[in-house]
Amino acid sequence: MLFLVGIIIFIFTFFFVYTTWSAAPFIPTHASEVDALIGLTNFSEDDVVYELGSGDCRLLIAAVIAGAGRGVGLELNPFLVWWGRWRVWRAGMSDKISVRFADAWRAELCDATVVITFWFGSRMEKLRDKLRRELRPGTRVLSYAFRFPEMKPVAQNRAAFLYVFGFGDSSKGDSSKSPNFRGQF
Ligand SMILES: C[S@@+](CC[C@H](N)C(=O)[O-])C[C@H]1O[C@@H](n2cnc3c(N)ncnc32)[C@H](O)[C@@H]1O
Repeated sequence: MLFLVGIIIFIFTFFFVYTTWSAAPFIPTHASEVDALIGLTNFSEDDVVYELGSGDCRLLIAAVIAGAGRGVGLELNPFLVWWGRWRVWRAGMSDKISVRFADAWRAELCDATVVITFWFGSRMEKLRDKLRRELRPGTRVLSYAFRFPEMKPVAQNRAAFLYVFGFGDSSKGDSSKSPNFRGQF
């Protein structure tokens, strides 16, 4: 029994360290900030929301409650994959939200209309470059607490920053200057 507990603690610690090295350890968005983050953009039935490192899925669940049609959680820690799935099931949203055991750095994000992330500052430059390469024009990106370097958010509040990716001019840093941006997000 002690051996089993030891194995579980070892695996848990391994994934905690591995995810910390990869992007960020599991530190959930504070419950009092969830509504502020989700409220930065409007969601519709057409939205496909990807969360990079979905943790316990609290943000995906909140996005669906706010009107998003579909949610996809990408999570590298298998304990959190199962915990997230259980919470989605308990919320009665298994038909709308799927949680994948996946490395978000390797995942394809091209069908996302919204991306949510709470990854740490040191990884934001690499993530910005991945999102610039893969997202379709007009994809909104909500980042909790951390900014993308050399990019200007189109909106922000105490919790998060909202960016619009996929425009040719986003490399100049200000997606709100794009002719396609009408401030409708
Ligand atoms: C700071 S937590 C945020 C959790 C959740 N998004 C929230 O806001 O409550 C970062 C999450 O990213 C996950 N993570 C770290 N690296 C990852 C990777 N390469 N692919 C997928 N998930 C990753 C961690 O396991 C952790 O759950």
